[in-house]
Amino acid sequence: MDPSLQNIVVLLGVLFPLLTAAYRNGRVEAACMTMEPGHEVAGQTTDPPYSLTMSKSNYSDGEELTVTLSTNPGAVQFRGFLIQARAGNGKTPLGSFKISGSDAQTLKCTTDASAVSHTSNSNKTSVQVTWVAPRINMSDIQLRATVVQTKLIFWMPVYGPTLNYTGSGAGQISAPSLSQLLLCSTVLLPALFRL
Ligand SMILES: *[C@@H]1O[C@H](CO)[C@@H](O)[C@H](O)[C@H]1NC(C)=O
Ligand SMILES: *[C@@H]1O[C@H](CO)[C@@H](O)[C@H](O)[C@H]1NC(C)=O
Ligand SMILES: *[C@@H]1O[C@H](CO)[C@@H](O)[C@H](O)[C@H]1NC(C)=O
Ligand SMILES: *[C@@H]1O[C@H](CO)[C@@H](O)[C@H](O)[C@H]1NC(C)=O
Repeated sequence: MDPSLQNIVVLLGVLFPLLTAAYRNGRVEAACMTMEPGHEVAGQTTDPPYSLTMSKSNYSDGEELTVTLSTNPGAVQFRGFLIQARAGNGKTPLGSFKISGSDAQTLKCTTDASAVSHTSNSNKTSVQVTWVAPRINMSDIQLRATVVQTKLIFWMPVYGPTLNYTGSGAGQISAPSLSQLLLCSTVLLPALFRL
């Protein structure tokens, strides 16, 4: 065999299991842009047997919404997923995610925690994460998921509802009110003066 070809074969032999392992543990940063699992097959074209739902269909600046990816009744459970929020045909992930269970992990796609993925290839009926909305009015922002059932069977994108912006509010960290400041200073001042 040609020595350089031999090198390539050896390299592939080393890399391929690494890549496969990477997908199994959900470190799928390589799929950030396309959101494709990279299984060398096309996604299913039938209606996805999974649903991506949100606790609300609108958001305010920095508001936290609960996101649920679930298996429809009677359907085969899923093993892998990648979830991002994007606006229209945009490629930039928006907002960030927080996780609570061990089934999900955040990924740094553009910014920290701008995507979430699975942590193992176990069968999952549903997974829940928190999405922290951006502080910007995007008119057609939607969460979207790639959902992997088996290595060769996946659906993408599975869309969440289109979210409307309701302005600044709930999610914003409010400045302390004047009365809070006054209360604070009346409590603190005597203590400071005793020094
Ligand atoms: C936002 O969504 C919630 C629940 O989905 C709804 O009750 C509320 O009226 C909506 N607010 C606006 C301003 O559309
Ligand atoms: C996951 O579910 C599939 C289909 O129901 C089944 O064939 C497979 O054995 C399950 N895998 C595990 C790890 O439980
Ligand atoms: C979002 O806004 C559009 C345009 O104002 C409106 O038609 C639609 O009903 C709104 N959707 C929700 C879920 O509030
Ligand atoms: C957000 O942008 C849309 C489209 O430009 C506009 O119709 C809507 O009034 C804006 N919402 C807020 C709360 O500013």
